[in-house]
Formats: sequence, structure tokens, C-alpha cells
Amino acid sequence: MNKDRTQGTSVPPASAGPAFLHWPIVQTIRLQLRFLLPLIAVVIATAYLVLPLVDGVTLRWFARDLDSRGAVVANALSDSVVEAMRAKRPRQLEKLFERALQDERLFAIGLCSPDGQMLVRTPAFPNDLNCFDALQISSRRDPRLMLNGGPVHVAMHDVVDQPHPAAVAEIASEAASAPPAAGAESAAGNGLPVAAAASEPTVQSAPVIVGRLVLLHDLSFIEKRSQDTRRYLVGLIAALGMVMALITMVVAQLSWRGWVSGVRALLRGEGLISPMGGVSSATSVELQPFAADLRERLRDLEDEYRRMQGPEADWSAERLQALLMTQLRGDQVIVVSNREPYIHERRRDGNIIVKRPASGLVTAVEPVMRACSGTWIAHGSGSADRDVVDANDRVAVPPGHDEYQLRRLWLTEQEEQGYYFGFANEGLWPLCHVAHVRPVFRESDWEAYKAVNRRFADAVVAEARSEDPIVLVQDYHFALLPAMVREKLPNATILTFWHIPWPNPESFGICPWRREILQGMLGSTILGFHTRFHCKNFIETVDRFLEARIEHEHSTISFQEDETLVEAYPISIEWPSDETVASWPSVPEARRNVRERLGLRQDTTLAVGIDRFDYTKGILERLNAVERLLEKHPEWIGRFVFVQVAAPTRSSLEEYRNFQERVERLTLRINERFGRTGYQPVHLLAQHHDSHAVNELLRAADMCIVTSLHDGMNLVSKEFVAARDDEQGVLILSRFAGAAREMTEALIVNPYHVEETADALHRAATMPAAEQRARMASLRATVREFNVFRWAGRMLTDAGRWRLKARVDARVARYRHAHERDQRGL
Ligand code: G6P
Repeated sequence: MNKDRTQGTSVPPASAGPAFLHWPIVQTIRLQLRFLLPLIAVVIATAYLVLPLVDGVTLRWFARDLDSRGAVVANALSDSVVEAMRAKRPRQLEKLFERALQDERLFAIGLCSPDGQMLVRTPAFPNDLNCFDALQISSRRDPRLMLNGGPVHVAMHDVVDQPHPAAVAEIASEAASAPPAAGAESAAGNGLPVAAAASEPTVQSAPVIVGRLVLLHDLSFIEKRSQDTRRYLVGLIAALGMVMALITMVVAQLSWRGWVSGVRALLRGEGLISPMGGVSSATSVELQPFAADLRERLRDLEDEYRRMQGPEADWSAERLQALLMTQLRGDQVIVVSNREPYIHERRRDGNIIVKRPASGLVTAVEPVMRACSGTWIAHGSGSADRDVVDANDRVAVPPGHDEYQLRRLWLTEQEEQGYYFGFANEGLWPLCHVAHVRPVFRESDWEAYKAVNRRFADAVVAEARSEDPIVLVQDYHFALLPAMVREKLPNATILTFWHIPWPNPESFGICPWRREILQGMLGSTILGFHTRFHCKNFIETVDRFLEARIEHEHSTISFQEDETLVEAYPISIEWPSDETVASWPSVPEARRNVRERLGLRQDTTLAVGIDRFDYTKGILERLNAVERLLEKHPEWIGRFVFVQVAAPTRSSLEEYRNFQERVERLTLRINERFGRTGYQPVHLLAQHHDSHAVNELLRAADMCIVTSLHDGMNLVSKEFVAARDDEQGVLILSRFAGAAREMTEALIVNPYHVEETADALHRAATMPAAEQRARMASLRATVREFNVFRWAGRMLTDAGRWRLKARVDARVARYRHAHERDQRGL
């Protein structure tokens, strides 16, 4: 539906050609490489670290194994060696050793005497390895010796003589009779040591080390095994790596897809909203606020982006007309609002005058209507309204220019009371503004509201010259009308614009007829609000109270076969043409005139507020701020004046009367407190001012104060900026007005914060001309570009697309129908 929105998605451009077709594959490969490359690196690093470690460990295991095998061999040989030594038979020792060498891993054996002489060695025993070296090597941590044939493991084991008790006794008696040390000497002579302790009968009973066996084990088999182990290990790590990579790829693929589709679903709202409008169980409850915020943020970004793109081309009355003639093929435009753009009043002298009402709606829609021609249907509320209409209750306006038709509809006093004062202004107005005034809902008002909506809907149908006119429904007075028109003109393009805020679902929920109101509004093709925030509130309200399908991605609501686009269209004013500006009094002239008229000193710093006398406008709050300014900065007493224009409105309602009295009382109090002869700090002008008087005031002012407690947009702030072609003057703007979103160079205040607002007044009064110019120039550029023709143009462009889509859908349905009939052979 919305081109900008489609462009905002992350799908690569179609201009990418064939590569576009492979996008998912490329994406997948890239994604998987992102996981695979680190994994491969980790596997290689692991192999580098682990292999030497494994080598060391296997070597230690085998060495320990050889040590214990050596000990077993030495033990087994021990007795025979002792015997052979006793018998002094070296040959027997050699034979003994040769037999032992049948163990394939035992490479050579040597026998050392306790004092370190090599007594016997097998042929393979290296000649240059003596007993001391062997002892040293065998006691190392790594007892390896490199020989030409490869490495050998060197171990030394004591050969211990454990004399038998009987032998001990025999030897002991022999020893007693034999001369001492004789045996020892003879032993030394044939190269074999005799039992060293034979001459010492007391030691004979304890074990005696008679020699040391040097066992050399062949280590080449360990090398071979170690190589095998290494090969297996590398294979294992590689296989493990492969398996891990495979699992990672699969998991990554699945979770990436899941994540992407999850986020897409979130953005579309599919994950949140079930087809029946309830909350989907697929998305956890905790994610819902996140998703809503995300969507809102995306939309804000989209808005910002559009703004950054610069003017789409200046929007003007001519461009709007061209749009109507081309995209909308010159189709008829019908506007419906309660307030009429021109009111004919009979004066006491009998003459008829034409008044322009104080209404943001009228200010915005009237220039659009002048550009579109067509018919505007409104309540004829002026005392001379009936006197100027034709037989069909029509009058051409603007008077003297006759650019479009005003069709007046007459309401009885009772109808006006119930529908306008009652339901619309005592019910919906406070309900939507959430400005601490309780809404009042009466059954009789609701009945009147329904009846009047029906009457206006019938008037629309009666005015329609085709089955698909473009109907522009304005504001909260006609919440039910869109569905009523849709019933009779199903192909009409109904654009409803809600000029006031839309509250959150909880606040709206207190309305007893909330469902009927929502259903009525969903008869619209397009439903517009000033801000995204109000759109979001509306969508959430529908979600809460109706069984509707919501497409967050497209911002559409489908309810009972009909689809409604809910979109933000910030309203604005007509930017004054050069001729208009040339017709205004100059700024110095306006300053002089206004100051003279109000009896002010010419050097007075003048602040103005221009509003309907309505409790939502924050008039009490701004008076409090003026009072605080004079308290905090007494230097302003006598030099600072605040003029409040308060156009009478809805005064028959008690809430309004009370409010007006409170404002009057506060004004009086401030004037009594700070006023003096020739000086009155607050001027409350509670009368209607025409557009010239308002413009003059705005040009004469040093600052304009807009402190609404809640406002859909607030066009006075934009009119002030448009009036200041001298680029001077400061705008103080409530953050609760829709305008604050666009007019960021204003001094933005929280009107409930008296101190902050008073400080803003002081800052504005002392702001250097250069800063005023910088701020004002930027504000003017914004309002010039985002003017009311753009507001209407965007809505009508969306409507044009919608109509085109509807026509294409209808044609497709016709073809399909014809095709099906052919198939059935009809
Ligand atoms: C607001 C509403 C308009 C209304 C205007 C004046 O701006 O949005 O619909 O016309 O106030 O109020 P009134 O009740 O006098 O028409």
C-alpha cells in the first residue's frame, strides 16, 4: 500500500538482476562461513596444543611401564645373578642375560658392581656406556639415550642378596673360623665381587646389594606407537571438528531462519496477534511491548527519513488539483464536518455578516476544499444561514469567489444538544483529550448522536453523483458515519480524519458504546490521525475491543470484509502566498497598532496566546507561569504583558463556564497583584477575533505561548511561524501538542511544570535576535514544506492507490468468474 514502507524493507533491489535469485544461497554460505571459519581455526589450534601434550603423556606411560617390566625382570634374575656371582661364573651370567634378552623389547643388559665397575655386558650393550653414566641417565625424568639404532630407555635395578636362614647360620659359622677379608680379595682377582659382608657375620642376616643390573629397553616401538596414537588423534579431532561444524551449521541455519522469520512476524504483527484478534501464544507476553515499541520506532524512523529526503516537490493548491485530476480522475469530493467554514450571522441592524469560526479543522480543510471544489456538508449554525442558501440548502463559498458548494444541514435544538454538546463535547472530547475532565455519557445523547450521524450519512449519499465518490469525514462528531455511508455506497473511498488525540485502550474503554464507535470508524477506507502515537493507540484499542485482523506491517485493520488503512497525516496550514504577505501590515506597524490599541508602552515585551476558551488549552497553566515569571524576575513588572485571546466556545456547557470563570478569576488576581497605574500584566480578550486581527497580534508579539494539556496538532503554533516573515519572535510550545513532534526548534515545555514554563518565558524575553532568527527560519522551512496541501495530498495519494488496487481486484475477480464459467461449459 505505502511505497515508502515497501522500500524500507531489507530485500535487495530487483536491479541486482540474476544475483538476486541467488541471494538466499549466497546469504546462507556467508552465514555458514561465519560459523565455520572460527571453528576450523579452533580445531587446528587444538591439534597444535594437544599433540605435544599427548606425546609427553604416552612417553611417560610407556617409561613407567618399562620401569615396572624392568623391575620384574631384575627380580626374576636377581637370585640367579647372586648365585652366579657367588659361584664366580661369569659365563653363567652371560647365558642368563642372553635368555632374558628373548624379550623383544629388552635390548641389552649390563651388570655393575656396587662400586660402579661394569662386570658383565651383553653384546649389544654400548661400549661407551659406563655404570656411572647409566646411573645418571636412569635417574633423569626422561631416561632416554640416543644410540645409532634409535632411542633406548635406561633403567637400573639393584641386585640384592637375601641370605637363607640356614645359609646365614652356615656362613656365620664359616666366618667365625675363617680369616677375615680373605674372600673379598680373591673375588676382586677374578673380576666378580664376593659377598661383601662374608667377613662380617652380623650384616649377613640383612639384604645386601651385590650389584646393579642395567637394563636397556628399545624405545623405537614407543615412537611407532606414539606416531600411531598421533595419527588416530588427528583423525579423531578432525572427525569431531566435522561433526561439530555440521551441527553448528544446522543449528545456525535453523536459528537464523527462525530468528529472521520471528522478527519478520513480529514486525508484521503475526507473532503477536492471532487471526481472531487475540494475543498469539507463539510470542511471549514479555516481547509484546518490545515489538510494539520496535514497530513504533521503525515508523518514526520512516517519518524522519522521509523528512530528511527533503521536499518531495513543493505541495501547493495546483499540485493537489493536478493529483485530483490525474490519480483520482476528477472524481467528486465530499467533505463532512460539524462546523461549517463560513457562518452567516444577522446583526442587530439587520445586515448579514460572514464569520470564519475558530476551528483548527476549518483552518486546515478550507484551503483543500478550495483546491478540490466539490461539496462540503456541515451543520448550518449561523442565525442567517437559512437566508442565503438555495432550495437544496446550498450556498457557494467563499463568498464572492464561489469555489465550492457548502451544503447546510439543519439540526433541531434537541439534536444539537444531544449530538453536539452532549455526546461529542461532554463525552468524546474529554474522553480523547484525557485532560482531567470527566467524560459524561448519557443514553439520550448517544441516541441523538446516532440519529444525526445517520442524517449526515444520508446527506452524503444524496450528494453523491457516482457510486464511488471520495468522502472526507472530519472529526469526532462523525464516528458512526463512515460505516453508514459504506452500507449505501460500498465503493466509496472514505477518508476519515480524527482531528483530536486518540487515548489508550484503558481510557477509551470507559465509553459504554466503544464497540459501536470503533465499528463505525472502521467503515473508512483510510483513517488518519495526526501522529503515529495516536494511530498506535487506535490500533491497540481495536485489538482490545473488536475481533479484527491487524496487519502491523501495513498498518491495516480488516474487520468484517472491509480493510482500513490507519495512517499518520500531520495536519498543517496553507502557507501564505507572496501576495498575502504583501497585504499584511509590516511588523513595526503591527507592533505599534497592537500596543496602541491595548494601551501598552511601545517597548513592552508582548506575549500572546490565541485559543478557543477550552480547558484543554492549558490557559490556567500559562497564567500561573506568567505570575511565576513576575515573582521570580520582578524586573519584568511594568515591561512584560501577556495577551490571551480566548474565542468563546461551547459556553452552554457547565464545564466550560466553570473553566472560563476560573481563568477570569486568576487573571484578576495577577492583575491586582502586579498591576499598577497604566500597567496591566494580563489582558484577557474573550471575544471572537477575525483572521486579520489574529495575524496582526501574532506579528506584533515577541513570543507566542501554546501550552495545551493535550492537543492533536495545534495550528496556532504554525500560524505564528507563518506570520513571522521577519524571522523574529519565539514560540513556546507544549510537548503535549502534536506540533511539538515537528516544531523542535520551539522552546518545548511541560505546561504542568510552572517553573519550567516561567523560565521559558524569561528565556524567550531575553533571547538574542540572532538565535530567534535561527530558530524561526528553521521552523518556517518546516511548516512551508509540510503544509496543508501536503497533508491532503498524502491522504489522497494513498486513496488513489487504494482505488486503483480495488479496481484491479474487481477486474481480476471478473476474469476469474468468467474463466470458471467457461470451465463449467456454461
Ligand atoms: C477542534 C475540533 C474541531 C472543532 C473545533 C472548534 O479543533 O477538532 O472539530 O471544529 O475544535 O470547536 P467547535 O465545537 O466550536 O466546532
